Amino acid sequence: MNSDDVVIRLVDLHKVYGKPGTSVEVHALRGVSMDIRRGEYLAIIGSSGSGKSTVMNILGCLDRPTRGRYELYGEDVTHLDDDRLSDVRGRRIGFVFQSFNLIPALTVLENLETPLFYQNIPARARAAKAREMIERVGLADRAEHRPVELSGGQQQRVAIARALMTDPVMLLADEPTGNLDSRTGQMILSLLEELNAGGTTVVLVTHDPHIARRVKRCVELSDGRIVQDRLNSAQVRQDAAHAHALQASEAH
Ligand SMILES: Nc1ncnc2c1ncn2[C@@H]1O[C@H](COP(=O)(O)OP(=O)(O)O)[C@@H](O)[C@H]1O
Ligand SMILES: [Mg+2]
Repeated sequence: MNSDDVVIRLVDLHKVYGKPGTSVEVHALRGVSMDIRRGEYLAIIGSSGSGKSTVMNILGCLDRPTRGRYELYGEDVTHLDDDRLSDVRGRRIGFVFQSFNLIPALTVLENLETPLFYQNIPARARAAKAREMIERVGLADRAEHRPVELSGGQQQRVAIARALMTDPVMLLADEPTGNLDSRTGQMILSLLEELNAGGTTVVLVTHDPHIARRVKRCVELSDGRIVQDRLNSAQVRQDAAHAHALQASEAH
């Protein structure tokens, strides 16, 4: 692997909320450094208040660090202004939230089209892409429904399809199964695994130990620092075998 494979580089990130020097000052991150490579499937774990959402918000260009550097595809995005940051976000990153965040008044297909509204994409191309994505998550028969008519798991599949509309290099998911029963949560995880197997880099936040075991790499935060960064050898072996099989089949 060479450095081109690094999608994200975090260097000594600090995040301080509140007014410095006052009692409301909170050090949410205290020197977080890590690289995330193309094709990784990574979970950020840690107890409540450890800084998980703060890292996710910075990764997703929703917020900036107080100190340190964030490189996305080799571009230093630490000090971009709001417009540039939202541009990067729109082009590069897909978001999935615990609470789905679908627009209730719009149909499933209309929800899928929303990320493309700001990108000068003709209506017909938007609609075609939405059709493709709804099929990809297995919900073509619900295309004209509204979110309220869907189960939680179906809504999350729509949210994942929407996140994929811009062909993001990276999918960020903050507790994507947090509002789902365990069986439905498993289905969402399988979908994320499938997307990852297809090459999408997936970073999720969870405090569910079952999920932490299913990902390929697990980074644990405690009090704003990385206290553990480990590969799940079973998943990584599986992945290597898969890559090997792919290479072998491409050689023919
Ligand atoms: N907007 C904010 N203003 C002030 N403090 C915040 C803000 N967001 C988070 N914090 C504090 O920063 C710390 C880390 O929070 P967070 O990243 O949300 O943790 P986690 O997602 O792991 O529960 C916590 O102590 C939290 O109270
Ligand atoms: Mg959180």
